[in-house]
Amino acid sequence: MAQYIVMLGPPGVGKGTQAKILAEKTGLVHVSSGDLFRENIKNQTELGLLAQSYMNKGELVPDDVTIGMVRERVSRADCKVGAILDGFPRTPVQADALKTMLAEFGADVDVVPFVTATEQVLVDRLSGRWTCRAEGHAYHEKHNPPKQPGVCDIDGSELYQRDDDKAETVKRRIQVYFEQTSPLIEYYKNAGKLIEIDGSQQIDQVSEALLAAVQK
Ligand code: AP5
Ligand code: MG
Repeated sequence: MAQYIVMLGPPGVGKGTQAKILAEKTGLVHVSSGDLFRENIKNQTELGLLAQSYMNKGELVPDDVTIGMVRERVSRADCKVGAILDGFPRTPVQADALKTMLAEFGADVDVVPFVTATEQVLVDRLSGRWTCRAEGHAYHEKHNPPKQPGVCDIDGSELYQRDDDKAETVKRRIQVYFEQTSPLIEYYKNAGKLIEIDGSQQIDQVSEALLAAVQK
């Protein structure tokens, strides 16, 4: 049976970090809308240029553009057995679109781990984050440092600080999360799919709780 997991939670809580670990443990593909946008920005595509103008301000990219991009990715063969969606959906319109696209292959969202932490923790994690150019692996200068400063342990590529991790953009991203994405908590709670996970624990403790939640 295919399994589709939606990672829900505020910016910086560790969705990307945990989705990558869970992908290795389950063999499911990690689909991150933020990584897809950053890939388009790197390749200077039309979609990338459009997305960048929103991302740099900490605003959401419009629903139609985002839904089209994710639909294309989720339709590929490697997602037929399921996927771990990270950063999508982020609005009720996107959640409805996801339901419709999965229904086309006779599937649905199975479980929604909702990862939580206080705003202070989020700001601390984002301000110390270093991200790998090649695959988006995330490090933290205090909590999860790479073995060699500035170099990804996994693929050897350069680490950089994301433009949207500047203090004022982080503030706006968190505000946008509360205004536009937090309604999804009720949305998936009402659907009986939400499982809350304490994201303020250490990385391996969060991974353990997450694995238990998706295996239920
Ligand atoms: P996106 O890339 O999705 O960013 P985000 O949601 O703001 O989340 P982050 O990637 O910042 O955080 P994360 O939860 O993945 O944390 P991470 O694992 O890196 O989106 C970027 C932008 O793209 C949006 O603002 C928007 O403009 C656009 N966009 C994307 N999707 C969209 C959509 N669906 N609709 C519209 N627009 C969209 O961890 C953070 C740091 O903490 C790292 O340094 C990590 O090492 C560290 N860390 C992680 N876990 C722990 C732990 N347990 N303890 C200590 N440190 C930890
Ligand atoms: Mg992320």
